[in-house]
Amino acid sequence: MKIGTPNSPTATRVMLLGAGELGKEVIIALQRYGVEVIAVDRYEGAPGHQVAHRAHAVDMTDAGALKALIAREQPHYIVPEIEAIATDALAEIEASGAATVIPTARAVQLTMNREGIRRLAAEELGLPTSKYAFASSADEIRKAIEGNKGTGYPCFVKPVMSSSGKGQSLLKGPDDVDKAWDYAEAAGRVKGARVIVEGFIDFEFEITLLTVRSKGPSGLVETSFCDPIGHVQQSGDYVESWQPQPMSPTALARARDIAKAVTDSLGGLGIFGVELFVKGDQVWFSEVSPRPHDTGLVTLVTQHQSEFELHARALLGLPTDTAMASPGASAVIYGGMEEQGIAFEGLDEALRVPETEVRLFGKPESFARRRMGVAVARGETVAEARARAKEAASLVRPVKG
Ligand SMILES: Nc1ncnc2c1ncn2[C@@H]1O[C@H](COP(=O)(O)OP(=O)(O)OP(=O)(O)O)[C@@H](O)[C@H]1O
Ligand SMILES: [Mg+2]
Repeated sequence: MKIGTPNSPTATRVMLLGAGELGKEVIIALQRYGVEVIAVDRYEGAPGHQVAHRAHAVDMTDAGALKALIAREQPHYIVPEIEAIATDALAEIEASGAATVIPTARAVQLTMNREGIRRLAAEELGLPTSKYAFASSADEIRKAIEGNKGTGYPCFVKPVMSSSGKGQSLLKGPDDVDKAWDYAEAAGRVKGARVIVEGFIDFEFEITLLTVRSKGPSGLVETSFCDPIGHVQQSGDYVESWQPQPMSPTALARARDIAKAVTDSLGGLGIFGVELFVKGDQVWFSEVSPRPHDTGLVTLVTQHQSEFELHARALLGLPTDTAMASPGASAVIYGGMEEQGIAFEGLDEALRVPETEVRLFGKPESFARRRMGVAVARGETVAEARARAKEAASLVRPVKG
């Protein structure tokens, strides 16, 4: 293990593909080790662009443009932060040995498509998931729901290529099928829509189990787990998260077994956000991100090493420690308006809330439901931390610049 000097011939170069708020924190963690960081996003002035050595605005779904940029920058490591990437180009680069893709090109490929990861989890690894089927028309959706092995109602329809709840519907009865298909088709990332139909899981709570694959002292890969993170989702986006989420010892053991099986199979080094549904001792696998997870922003204050520090260390081959320092919570700060170059009032009041920190991401453009910042707080208990985070988030007021 060796790290060079940035902007010199010995530099260790890392390229982030996607430079949003999560990428920005990974970049800051890498910068602290003197890594040379190249941030790529589809638009100029993305949060991670602002803290990297070099920044590029490129359509990352364009394989030619992506390969040309990688050839020019010659990163040692390529770290995807988003799903919408020409993953065939990453597979080619990995196969040529030109760069290491974090965690692996196959993991990035499988997890960008709900069909890939669901078939791996349920059919190859035999993990518990919701009932599911794939469909490419409204009629096929109907069959997937109503057939004798169908999901029944209620159920979810989701484009296989989409994230953050885009194009997703909850269907309560047969009348909802056509509009769910139209909505999914309009929102899918690629033409020729395909959807997953998922049976509704009546869970008690859902968690993100951050799982780290890093090198141990012997050089072998070791798996470790952060404490479970609980969260609340609204229309496909998380609004609040906390750590630890209490769960039964049996459920925790099952959650870890599921996360270990999935991440073993995906391989490579780095952090994974394993999304699970829990009811009593029962646990279902939902999906996994081979990268830091938005609900894991809470780890900025709850762990000695945040999920971003863990990812940076793991990918560089450095040791990691997932131990918690304190219970804590996060609450999202939304833009609340469609406007360029907005400002924020009340940061001073927010930071007077005890044991609280705020991150403003510096996004050049605000939308009503765009995540523009986050408040994170510690507390004696999760309840105290949640109240503090929510209070601080509500005190930060976006205003016209
Ligand atoms: N089968 C299901 N049963 C019950 N609830 C579900 C099911 N699938 C999804 N949900 C709810 O919808 C949320 C979003 O689903 P999912 O994670 O699949 O979407 P996503 O677009 O990948 O979102 P994100 O990118 O934010 O993770 C889940 O966190 C959960 O609250
Ligand atoms: Mg999800």
